[in-house]
Amino acid sequence: MSELLELNILPSPKTVEESLVAETTSEDVVRRIHTLKEELRDKVVILGHHYQRDDIVQFADRTGDSFELARYASELYDREFIIFCGVHFMAETADVLSGDNQKVILPDLKAGCSMSDMARAEQVYDVWDEIGEQLDTAKLCPITYMNSSAAIKAFCGEHGGAVSTSSNNKALFEWAFSQGFEKILFFPDQHLGRNTAFYQMGIPLEQIRLYDQTKPLGGLTPEELRSAKILLWRGHCSVHQHFQSSHPNIMRALYPGIQVLVHPECNFDVVRQADKVGSTAYIIKTVEQAPPGSMWAIGTEHHMVNRLRKEHPEQFITTLAPYACECSTMFRISPESLLDILENLKRGVVKNQISVEASEKKWARVALERMLEVTRKAQ
Ligand code: 13P
Repeated sequence: MSELLELNILPSPKTVEESLVAETTSEDVVRRIHTLKEELRDKVVILGHHYQRDDIVQFADRTGDSFELARYASELYDREFIIFCGVHFMAETADVLSGDNQKVILPDLKAGCSMSDMARAEQVYDVWDEIGEQLDTAKLCPITYMNSSAAIKAFCGEHGGAVSTSSNNKALFEWAFSQGFEKILFFPDQHLGRNTAFYQMGIPLEQIRLYDQTKPLGGLTPEELRSAKILLWRGHCSVHQHFQSSHPNIMRALYPGIQVLVHPECNFDVVRQADKVGSTAYIIKTVEQAPPGSMWAIGTEHHMVNRLRKEHPEQFITTLAPYACECSTMFRISPESLLDILENLKRGVVKNQISVEASEKKWARVALERMLEVTRKAQ
């Protein structure tokens, strides 16, 4: 299996202690944010992804996984400003799903997502044309993980496809086949795609092919392309790639009885060894519902794991890796950047607005609404 894994060069991760040192906010900043939130409460809602630091989560009106936050954004019509404490693709999604009278703000414009950057729209168009020389693309459904640009979401919408997240990927794959599509092209996270297709849907690995967009015909033979049911873009999450196949056994040896609970962006071999797999919301729910004394080694972003540890002292919770797997772009959203946004709004200035172009918005909305509808029916 190892040739399937993308263990690229790993940046040296921080220790757990180093990662938490930076999370200290002055009382003055905390007080000013609370005051401004109160003054602007009829106009502003603050959304926070589960990977945000504690010193941001404390100000969030709603927290959630990427699916839940997208749904909130589509329902919060009474607030003029949605301050999105997350990363760029999430704020774009909120802009697509919110009303024309609303404005979405990302407190730090550098809060991007390296996985999302692994699929550029032009590359996707080229790959589509390249595949089209071999296959009838009318039978190929493009599905994009939420972690992608609005342009790619629009491409999927326009070509009969949809968006998915880690909490509903299986439902979206099943939906695609139920619409008569014979194959799925999934981007950008190869791991989520492979884990869903193999572990949740039982599709054999010979029918799940990595389509390496940097190689002619994805590095596949025409026959491999024709026999595949799922084609996976070569992309991955820079945080979850730190979890390695040796970690579950190390944790089980260190802490007998511990359960391994991981996000499906972890690689195939890590997921194979896990006791439970699911989105950030699933991981939180699983811990919340577990009895006292439960032991968990969790394979996902370190700030969320650390928050769970603090909230559940009756359980033993540790990260699956022996170092802090931090999402450095999520971490860019700081109390200071949030305060700056609120102070500007108070003065009537909208800073860091995220606006998706009208031409992309229409079809991106179609792709996202398909996801909302399919998920609603599957629940
Ligand atoms: P969730 O959908 O579980 O919130 O995951 C989002 C994400 O970007 C994980 O890296």
